[in-house]
Amino acid sequence: SSRKCLVTGGAGYVGSVVAAHLLAAGHTVTVLDDLSTGHRAAVPEGAAFIHGRVQDAGQWLDSSYDAVLHFAAFSQVGQSVADPEPYWRNNVGGTADLLAAMRDAGVRTLVFSSTAATYGEPAAVPITEDAPTAPTNPYGATKLAVDHMIGGECAAHGLAAVSLRYFNVAGAYGPYGERHAPETHLIPIVLQVARGEREAVAVYGDDYPTPDGTCVRDYIHVADLAEAHLLALSAARDGEHLICNLGNGNGFSVHEVIETVRKVTGHPVPQTAAPRRPGDPAVLVASAERARETLGWTPRRPDLAGIVADAWEFARRGPEQ
Ligand code: UFG
Repeated sequence: SSRKCLVTGGAGYVGSVVAAHLLAAGHTVTVLDDLSTGHRAAVPEGAAFIHGRVQDAGQWLDSSYDAVLHFAAFSQVGQSVADPEPYWRNNVGGTADLLAAMRDAGVRTLVFSSTAATYGEPAAVPITEDAPTAPTNPYGATKLAVDHMIGGECAAHGLAAVSLRYFNVAGAYGPYGERHAPETHLIPIVLQVARGEREAVAVYGDDYPTPDGTCVRDYIHVADLAEAHLLALSAARDGEHLICNLGNGNGFSVHEVIETVRKVTGHPVPQTAAPRRPGDPAVLVASAERARETLGWTPRRPDLAGIVADAWEFARRGPEQ
């Protein structure tokens, strides 16, 4: 059935792709975004747009809404280490205000954008939702705090919520793709090298305990991720907080990603060796069993070359005009 959804952070990478999927499925979408890191042009046609902060969501949220999908947050790990306070204020404080606004308006369903960074250095891989949570940076700590806050809200006030813990989101969905400034993520950086916008990609560490010495990550296509959000909307139950990892369950090394970009783009992509980046675990791979079982989710685009090809198409075409 068609629902009226508020999408906070819907001008960002994942938020815009989810908003586009919601619209395609016949839902009504209002995007709330302060454009601090998002792009106005990324808000899909057909969505209403409010230029505002989640802290002020109460000004717009009313009982006509059925659900909130909450993406608005600061998301740069390195920045969160250098200057943590805005992360707590925005990610945790902002969500507290949003939950209060939802309670006041009687909006009872929430899908939250959480992260594998809540687990920190994994004790075992693949990582299940029962794994210990010990974030190694303030970004992950704020997302974990929000997960706890949401759990409390469900228990106390009957909120129906799903937290989705993303592994390494990549790829693009038509005109909606990744463009951060500064860019820190591996695939967009390697594509910048392929386009000649950067000289070389620095490989952060080649002496990890992995098959080729470089870090292994679970790359998941942003469109597969979006489909999980629509399933989560239907799976949410009053008074319950469901937490699900979203990943493919396959790991690829930094070298494998670079080699895939060479094959997909046909460009040489020079690389240099660089020291390890502090806080990078050797291997992060999801167990996605729970998402498959409880959401009925199946990632349809697990192939790394396909993920890279979609990101390349977006990088070549440039962002939405
Ligand atoms: N890397 C390089 N060179 C670069 C950029 C990245 O070698 O120029 C390496 C990193 O060291 C890492 C891998 O490529 O081993 C992937 O790095 P990303 O920065 O693309 O992604 P992360 O795995 O660090 O982080 C992602 C999300 C975070 C989230 C984290 C949770 O971007 O938001 O997963 O595990 F917190």
